[in-house]
Amino acid sequence: MSLQIFRTKQLKPDDHSGTGLHRCLSAWDLAFLGIGAIIGTGIFVLTGIAAATMSGPAVILSFVIAGLACAFAALAYAELSAAIGGCGSAYGYSYVAFGELFAWIIGWDLLLEYGISVAAVANGWSGYFNNALTAIGLPLPEMLTKAPKLGGLINLPASAIILLLMGLLIIGVKHSAKTNNAMVFIKLITITVFIAVAMFNVNPDNWSPFMPYGWFETLPDGKTTGVLAGASLVFFAYVGFDAVSTAAEEAKNPQRDLPFGIVVSLIFCTIVYIVVSGLLTGVVPYTDLNVSSPVAHALSLIGINWASALIATGVIAGLTTVMLVLYYALTRIIFAMSRDGLLSPFFSELNPKTQTPVRVIVLCGIIISLTAGFMPLGDLAELVNIGTLAAFVLVCLGVLILRIVKPDMPRPFRAPFHPLFPVLGMLSCSALMAFLPALTWLRFIIWLVLGLIIYFAYSMRHSKLAKSA
Ligand code: ALA
Repeated sequence: MSLQIFRTKQLKPDDHSGTGLHRCLSAWDLAFLGIGAIIGTGIFVLTGIAAATMSGPAVILSFVIAGLACAFAALAYAELSAAIGGCGSAYGYSYVAFGELFAWIIGWDLLLEYGISVAAVANGWSGYFNNALTAIGLPLPEMLTKAPKLGGLINLPASAIILLLMGLLIIGVKHSAKTNNAMVFIKLITITVFIAVAMFNVNPDNWSPFMPYGWFETLPDGKTTGVLAGASLVFFAYVGFDAVSTAAEEAKNPQRDLPFGIVVSLIFCTIVYIVVSGLLTGVVPYTDLNVSSPVAHALSLIGINWASALIATGVIAGLTTVMLVLYYALTRIIFAMSRDGLLSPFFSELNPKTQTPVRVIVLCGIIISLTAGFMPLGDLAELVNIGTLAAFVLVCLGVLILRIVKPDMPRPFRAPFHPLFPVLGMLSCSALMAFLPALTWLRFIIWLVLGLIIYFAYSMRHSKLAKSA
């Protein structure tokens, strides 16, 4: 028994063929999947909160720091996704690198990352959606737009959009990928409009003081502030590039296309974040940005209402793609864990008509919809970040370990400057975790303990790997 939990899966490059999922995604579909998952609530909502309460105009530095940590992790993901493949993302890699128990822990951690981030983005979406309804004179009653903790009854739009996406995912991946590509296009136009308008309205005085809250400080109420705390918060903006790796089983040529999708989408989004956050804090004073729709708000503050309305519309479309891709990734991770016997086989059956795991899609849809309706954005985003950062640390460690224990494994993509980059990845992601508040740590630990209980009570006994031994 004690050996079983450390038993690793053997590497079989073709392991992921013949699973019943359709191979229909091209390299650019994957890059778009990444961009679809990455640009969202982080840049459109959290930038404002971070600038106003943590970083000031130096939020641009927060984005650079968080982006660097992600870059190291992205290279590690690219190496492992090309060499190992499989649809379980970091879960699948750790099964090969560390063995079953660690694979379970990371898989359980990814469920938190993806599930909660869909709910968090739904909250950001709801903010812009409610603004749009108000703008056309059809505001919803306030109690239907807020979680109970914020004085409302339920965040109805956040809850409803999840159920809508559930329907899209049931129809099938290619349809969803097409929808995704169209919406990514709208999102990029939105950002282009913002950049084009904002660059002619910058007032350099707004960039001073540049770093009003310093580097890092813990406030008496337990909250954190400063550029590094800002980096830990805006890290949320980068969550999602790893979603590309969950689509391995539906990629036409995963070995070549996954590293491409991961690296291209991350580079592109980092550039966009630096430009947008720099302009946003240049257009209006950072103190005005602590609102639920800061990008649209900034433009309406300087009187350019047409652009503000256009951007709000684009953001609604943009955040929809983020939820779609993260939701898709969540269902694929559960699918992989179930197929390995660590979760009930109930979850790994494909619907014969749609060729999609309909049961998982529906179950996740209901849980996420309730979470999005009843929990506020702030609580959700921090929890996502700590879970994601922990996964990144383990993926970097996986690269180090596999280079030692399986030096001859074919690696179509090799992360450069080994072992420096994975070590820097582990250090930078751990540091960002350390800048998160104590309450977030507590919630994260509770989630992990729950996962361990399930593993020892169910998964260990039903593991296919254990049975085949
Ligand atoms: N990176 C995604 C967002 O910012 C999760 O919404």
